[in-house]
Amino acid sequence: MELKEKITSTFESRFGGHGTIYASAGRINLIGEHTDYNGGFVFPGAIDKVIMAEIRANGTDTVRAYSIDIDDYAEFGLNEEDAPKASWARYIFGVCREIIKRGGKVQGFDTVFAGNVPLGAGLSSSAALESCFAFALNDMFNGNAIDKFELARIGQSTEHNYCGVNCGIMDQFASVFGKKDHLMRLDCRSMEFEYFPFKADGYTLVLLDSVVKHELADSPYNKRRASCERVAKRLGIETLRDADMEMLDSIKSDITAEDYFRAKFVIEEKERVLTVCDALVKGDFDTVGRCMYETHNGLSKDYEVSCEELDYLNDIAKECGVVGSRIMGGGFGGCTINLVKDELLPAFIATAKEKFNAKYGHEPKVYEVIISDGAHKVTE
Ligand code: GLA
Repeated sequence: MELKEKITSTFESRFGGHGTIYASAGRINLIGEHTDYNGGFVFPGAIDKVIMAEIRANGTDTVRAYSIDIDDYAEFGLNEEDAPKASWARYIFGVCREIIKRGGKVQGFDTVFAGNVPLGAGLSSSAALESCFAFALNDMFNGNAIDKFELARIGQSTEHNYCGVNCGIMDQFASVFGKKDHLMRLDCRSMEFEYFPFKADGYTLVLLDSVVKHELADSPYNKRRASCERVAKRLGIETLRDADMEMLDSIKSDITAEDYFRAKFVIEEKERVLTVCDALVKGDFDTVGRCMYETHNGLSKDYEVSCEELDYLNDIAKECGVVGSRIMGGGFGGCTINLVKDELLPAFIATAKEKFNAKYGHEPKVYEVIISDGAHKVTE
């Protein structure tokens, strides 16, 4: 059944009648990983996989929420002490709380939601969920008075304050601002951004999902961020955005080898984003691809957020002559993103499935990427 039909029929049987439907998207990131919380650049786009929710004010102070995918129901109030236990419900609660903390209005509502963003694949299903509800509650209760950047920050603060992940702004930004057929280069220090038409004639962007699950809460993700912040502090700068290799080398003997390599990756990665944007405008896909491989190497060796399965998928891509391939997102599992010449695509996918299956006993999942719009209202 289509996502929307599934949601409307479940809403009707659970709550009776109908509410308004909203959706927000998962994201890809062409390049610029772990740069957002370092004040650097990222280059994401929203994709055609969404979290969708039907929502209706219920005239009480209680939220009544049903997740179709998890088949779980939660009821919670809107005060700080009302935080639900289920982690999926905490995303919705967090968004409500962050709106209220900013002086916005939220009243009780009934909601049913579901999605087709694969969970734990590095496609930001959680940002899609947060952005969907932030966008919806802004529309329903605040006359859209909260600007779009603040909606993204509401999602990010939800992660920080209710879900234990000290994430940057990239995922929520991409989910809120996404535009069909466009990638966005965001400067995470000034928050200025530019849309870049993404027309890769003759090439396809395809994701290979290792199906290794990652969990960013309490994970090495927060530790990576802490390393970067330590190095920035030692250099006397706010973020690694202002660092270069010369500066880093000048303090090499004062910091741990681990912190050194984390910072080295970030310094190199922020330059790669600019190189890739220029190359993309010129249609120079060889440079785009080379940078993607460099990013993978850095994420694997210096930042150490890859895993055996993702390194293997990257090796297969290289062997098959794929233009660019790398692990995408926070890491510790999830997908590789691959820029593949159209004529090579069927052979690449067949080889990746076969080899991965032979080694790990299951095939990677394959998603072709369609760059799409971000948060929006689906029905009146
Ligand atoms: C996760 C975080 C983002 C970003 C990426 C890595 O997706 O939510 O803020 O740091 O990892 O680039």
